[in-house]
Amino acid sequence: MADGDLLIGRVLRTGGDPFAEGLGALRIEGDAGVLVRDGHIAAVGPAAELRAAHPRARLHDHGRHLICPGFVDAHAHYPQTAIIASWGKRLIDWLNTYTFPEELRFDDPAYARAVAERYLDLTAAHGTTSVASYCTVHPESVEAIFAAAAARGQRVLAGKTCMDRNAPDGLRDDAVRAYDESKALLARWHGRGRARYVITPRFSPTSTPEQLSALGALWGEYPDCLMQTHLSEQTDEIAWVRTLFPEARDYLDTYEAHGLLGANGVYGHAIHLEPREIDRLREVGAALVHCPTSNTFIGSGLFDMRLASTLRIGLATDTGGGSSFSMLRTMAAAYEIGQLRGRPLHASELMWLATAGSATALRIDDRVGRIAPGFEADLCVLDLASTPAIAQRAGRAEDDWDEVFATIMMGDDRAVRSVWIGGSERIAAA
Ligand code: GUN
Ligand code: ZN
Repeated sequence: MADGDLLIGRVLRTGGDPFAEGLGALRIEGDAGVLVRDGHIAAVGPAAELRAAHPRARLHDHGRHLICPGFVDAHAHYPQTAIIASWGKRLIDWLNTYTFPEELRFDDPAYARAVAERYLDLTAAHGTTSVASYCTVHPESVEAIFAAAAARGQRVLAGKTCMDRNAPDGLRDDAVRAYDESKALLARWHGRGRARYVITPRFSPTSTPEQLSALGALWGEYPDCLMQTHLSEQTDEIAWVRTLFPEARDYLDTYEAHGLLGANGVYGHAIHLEPREIDRLREVGAALVHCPTSNTFIGSGLFDMRLASTLRIGLATDTGGGSSFSMLRTMAAAYEIGQLRGRPLHASELMWLATAGSATALRIDDRVGRIAPGFEADLCVLDLASTPAIAQRAGRAEDDWDEVFATIMMGDDRAVRSVWIGGSERIAAA
C-alpha cells in the first residue's frame, strides 16, 4: 500500500507575516517535497530526504514548478457567478440592476445547486481551495454551497445574506426570520466537516436597526462564529448610510451600536475609513478584506494597505463585483492599487495575502494557508512559465520571487497545474 503522496518541486514556505516580520517571512525552497497523508501535510523538507524516508509514497514530480498553499478567497458572492463582468454601473445601481435580479433566482434549489457547483469548480480551477462566501436571503442558497463543498471535501465559510429593507420583494426577510433562519443554518452547518457558518448581514443600508440588533444578539450567542459584512466601499453608499442612521457617529458605528463589531468580524472593502473607525477596528482586533478588482471595476476607490501593519487583512475576488475568479489576477490588482497609493507590494506580501493572510482574517490560519506539518493538504501547484509571454519574462528573472511576480502579474488559470483539496488531487497535472 502507498505511504501517502509525495509532491516534489519548489515549495513556498511561510514562516510568518511579511507585513510584521519583513519579506524574509516567506521563502521559496528548491528541490523540496511535501508529504500528504490522510488529508493533511505529514512532512515538508528536502526532496531527497523525503524520498529516502518514504520510498512507498506515490511520487508527483513537479520539477521546478512552485508548490503553494491553495489560495484563500476571503470575500465572494457565489450567487453572482453568472453576472460577473456586468457593465457600466456603480455600487447601488449595480446591485439593483444586476445583482438583486440574479439573487432572486436562488429561491429555486436546483438553480442554487447548479451555480454553487459551477462556482466551486471554477474557483478550484483557479487554485482557490477555501472561500468565504455570501449566499442569498434564501436558506436554499446556503444549503447549496455547503452541500457542494462537502461533496468536494472543501473548506467553505458561508452564511445567509440578511436584508429587510431597500431590496426587492422576494429578497427581503425580517428581523425575526433573519435570526431564526441564520440560527437554524448555523446549527446545521457550523463545524460540520470543513464547513463554517458566518453570520451575514449584507450591509447597513439593507438592514433595519431591528435586524442588525437581532443578528448582533445571535452573534453574542455564538461568538466563535465569524460575522461578515460590507463597510465604507463607496462614498455615495456612506452618504446614504448617514441619512439612514442619522444618530450614528460613522458607518462602523451602525454595526457597533447593534452588537456587530468584534474580534471575529470580517469587514469587506473598508476603503473610506474615518480615523475613529480605524482605531475601533484595531482595538477590537477585527479583520478587513481588500477586494481590489472589485474596487476598480465598480469604481469604489483605493484601499490603504498600510493598515496591514496593525490589522489582519484578507484578500478577495468579491465575485461578481470583482471581475475575476483568479487570486493571481486579484494579487495583480492589489499590486496596481498599491502603486497608485505609493506602496508597491512585494511578491511575497501578495502571496501571503492570498494564502495565510486571508486565512488569518478568517481565523482558519491554524489549518490552511501554509505548507507545514499538521496543516490540511490544500495545495496549488503553479507553472511559472504557463504562457509564452510569461515564459520569456521568467527567463530573465533575477531570482525566484521575480519569477513568481511575472506569474502574479500575467498569470491566470493556465498557470494552475495541479490542485489538492483536503489531501485529494482535484485538478491533475497533465
Ligand atoms: N455591498 C453590499 N452588497 C454588495 C455586493 O454584493 N457586492 C459589493 N461589491 N458590495 C456590496
Ligand atoms: Zn461583497
